[in-house]
Amino acid sequence: MASVVAGFHALALVLFVSVSAMAAPPLKVGYYLRTCPLAENIIKQTVFNAVSRNPGMAAGLVRLHFHDCFVRGCDASVLLKSTPGNPAERDHPANNPSLRGFEIIDQAKARLEALCPGTVSCADIVAFAARDSAQFASRNSALFTGGIIYDVPAGRRDGRVSRLPEVTQNLPPPSFNAQQLIANFARKGLSVDEMVTLSGAHSIGISHCSSFSSRLYAFNATHAQDPTLDRAYAAFLKTKCPPPSNKTQPDPTVPLDSITANTLDNKYYIQLLQRRGLLTSDETLYTSPSTSGLVVNNTRNGYTWSWKFAKAMVKMGSIEVLTGNQGEIRKVCSVVN
Ligand code: HEM
Ligand SMILES: *[C@@H]1O[C@H](CO)[C@@H](O)[C@H](O)[C@H]1NC(C)=O
Ligand SMILES: *[C@@H]1O[C@H](CO)[C@@H](O)[C@H](O)[C@H]1NC(C)=O
Ligand SMILES: *[C@@H]1O[C@H](CO)[C@@H](O)[C@H](O)[C@H]1NC(C)=O
Repeated sequence: MASVVAGFHALALVLFVSVSAMAAPPLKVGYYLRTCPLAENIIKQTVFNAVSRNPGMAAGLVRLHFHDCFVRGCDASVLLKSTPGNPAERDHPANNPSLRGFEIIDQAKARLEALCPGTVSCADIVAFAARDSAQFASRNSALFTGGIIYDVPAGRRDGRVSRLPEVTQNLPPPSFNAQQLIANFARKGLSVDEMVTLSGAHSIGISHCSSFSSRLYAFNATHAQDPTLDRAYAAFLKTKCPPPSNKTQPDPTVPLDSITANTLDNKYYIQLLQRRGLLTSDETLYTSPSTSGLVVNNTRNGYTWSWKFAKAMVKMGSIEVLTGNQGEIRKVCSVVN
């Protein structure tokens, strides 16, 4: 009797698992091999073309995937334009005006729609484009030849909703300390190590002065300047970023990593040891005991870091994804069908 009950439970479990798997199958490497075999090649070609013309775009596309996945999962909600009565993620100050690479996604999408209409989701294009950008940006890294190369499980579907206020609730601001970052990433299922590893993306790209200038001019009641910031570096940053006196003045940019600005590598962590992390959320990884050991280890073994980075990108790319018949395959990435 007991074994019959157990058998019944096992059957119920199998049924339950297969039914839920039917509703939302997992992502799969090579997802478009039969339906659009050239999809990944076309995306890579489009990305490589764009980033050879403008290397900064690689940073933009890696960040685009992060901003997509942390708000409503990796469903391309970050690409949707605001509509009357519905301000979208894209117009949140964390995205507008600094988030870039939208036109590269649109270009790849147009080519794919011409070849295999209604097949490749915008969310997958964003994930592939981030992977290809990481490869391109790391190809000249001193760590190895060929760069960071990894397979991207695909089969994401596109969401139909994008809401501006959800960015504030989900995306960490640059003012966060290590404890806040750990909690924020944990809510997305990412570990402390994965948070520190993914922050290494800040070894490429730029930041606007407004994202860190409080560290230079208005730190707290006793310190105008953040005492954890290297003084020479702070002096350099002040030559680039004027005091934030009024809102209409321009907002210049500086490289996030001032040594190897266009190379995705572990030099970022060496900068943190030198107190040259640009954002509070960067430097805190070294000044906080809960993460400093991970930072030090990443300075020592760039190869291990790059391997962890690839793995963490895949994990980030699976956050709250829509699959199966959830969502839709958008025709144009900036509007729902
Ligand atoms: C740990 C929490 C994080 C915070 C607080 C944060 C915050 C920021 C900020 C404020 C900027 C500069 C925006 C500007 O002013 O122009 C930036 C840039 C960037 N972020 Fe993050 N970020 C975080 C994690 C990540 C992750 C996980 C990735 C990707 C895996 C990433 C990739 C990038 C890239 C590549 C840039 C440069 C973008 C460009 O040059 O266009 N960041 N981030
Ligand atoms: C200002 O920041 C410094 C360094 O983090 C800290 O030691 C000090 O207590 C802070 N002062 C106030 C008033 O918060
Ligand atoms: C704000 O900054 C701009 C550009 O630097 C300047 O032209 C303008 O006069 C400033 N406005 C105020 C109110 O200070
Ligand atoms: C750093 O690496 C060493 C050697 O591999 C390891 O024993 C240690 O646990 C690591 N530290 C952290 C904080 O992961």
